[in-house]
Amino acid sequence: MKICMIGAGYVGLVSAACFSDFGWNVTCIDKDEGRLALLNRGEIPIYEPGLDDLVARNVAAGRIQFSGSLPEAVRDADVVFLAVGTPVRRGDGYADLTYVFEAVEELAPHIRDGIVITTKSTVPVGTGREIERRLKALRPDAEFAVCSNPEFLREGSAIRDFTHPDRVLVGCDEGRGRDIMARIYEPLSLRSAPVMFVSRESAELAKYAANSFLAMKITFINEIADLCEEVGADVSEVATAIGADGRIGPKFLNPGPGYGGSCFPKDVSALARTAREARAPVTLVEQVEKVNMERKIAMGARVERASGGSVHGKTIAVLGVTFKPNTDDMRDAPSLVILPMLQSRGATVRACDPQGRPQAEQLLPDVEWFVDPIEAAQGADVLLVLTEWNEFRALDLKQLRSAMSGDVLVDMRNVYSPRHAQDAGFSYSGIGRGTERDSSAQ
Ligand code: UDX
Repeated sequence: MKICMIGAGYVGLVSAACFSDFGWNVTCIDKDEGRLALLNRGEIPIYEPGLDDLVARNVAAGRIQFSGSLPEAVRDADVVFLAVGTPVRRGDGYADLTYVFEAVEELAPHIRDGIVITTKSTVPVGTGREIERRLKALRPDAEFAVCSNPEFLREGSAIRDFTHPDRVLVGCDEGRGRDIMARIYEPLSLRSAPVMFVSRESAELAKYAANSFLAMKITFINEIADLCEEVGADVSEVATAIGADGRIGPKFLNPGPGYGGSCFPKDVSALARTAREARAPVTLVEQVEKVNMERKIAMGARVERASGGSVHGKTIAVLGVTFKPNTDDMRDAPSLVILPMLQSRGATVRACDPQGRPQAEQLLPDVEWFVDPIEAAQGADVLLVLTEWNEFRALDLKQLRSAMSGDVLVDMRNVYSPRHAQDAGFSYSGIGRGTERDSSAQ
């Protein structure tokens, strides 16, 4: 089986590497020459645990190659996956399908009969139909199938998510498309991963619905956390209690500074717009988008409150700036809203992040960077935890406290035990921990 993966971004690269590890022959196409050169040397342009070894192993075995030559790879392929970006379109919040349709135009002259074109990028419902229409117009002679195969992997655990999925979702009609997709995923279905075949529209919509539901779950627990603070409850106890109900489930109930990343913000926005256009508005999802945006601003105000009402002239040491741990990705990270807000109110920001610094340096001007958290905390008035990297969990709180000149610890990921933090001399505030009220609220 020969696979052509168009796009060596997050989803494309991880999927291509995992498919090649199953034993399939994969050519991954990208337009970025620098990226291709790195990849062909087995070096990875993104940070994802385990991906470097996986790629290097399969490059060495000759099962995966990276190329800029789309015609050749498409001519040879049984399946072409489209894994190009679908960012939010400026101005209206819809998914921007420019890269998808560009790829379709480029590949059209080179397809041979029986080929299967499959979208792996997250694309709005109806995109498969539109790809089919465009391909038919460009190649009325050709016989092909267009399938949808949305990817549910998470950054930071992408390889495990791909190889141990809760489900593989394939949207297609009966026939060659379905047969080929079943064959490609046989290494997983033989290990009893459920491979589900549904209509193309259902697969396309399910991806948006899944991400929006998870974003809604996080937004729900964030608001419950705020309520906990007002009424003296503890959100982790509430989350455990509700999560024990099998209908709710315990995952994605960790409160924080608001969700970010490459998927949730863009998919929530795109679903809301698609639904409006279809005259079936998902008002709950619209509300999730609004509440999450407001939350990031509210988190800046929370730091001000915890600092006694103002951060003017204060130094804030920040632990973690990426949107979540185990990634260098800064897309829609809460830090991008919270830190500039604190700077605009007169604070000086010092920060450290195990992987995020190279990207963050471009996006967060006037931040002083450190490798070591204790050094970042030196002389700071306030310590702010924004990302729950493991390396922050076991830090010596007494040492942190004595490095600082102030005693305020704002823990937006509930990484530390309030008691330990207080024992170390901190004035601690977490998220949704009712006994730990902000100083101004007391
Ligand atoms: C998400 C989906 O989980 C994945 O299925 C999809 O393919 C892509 O989008 P990802 O963006 O990599 O994956 O990260 P995820 O772990 O889902 O976290 C997204 C955001 O939600 C992060 O900002 C994270 O901090 C936040 N989050 C997650 C919470 O605030 N609380 C939680 O309980 C879980």
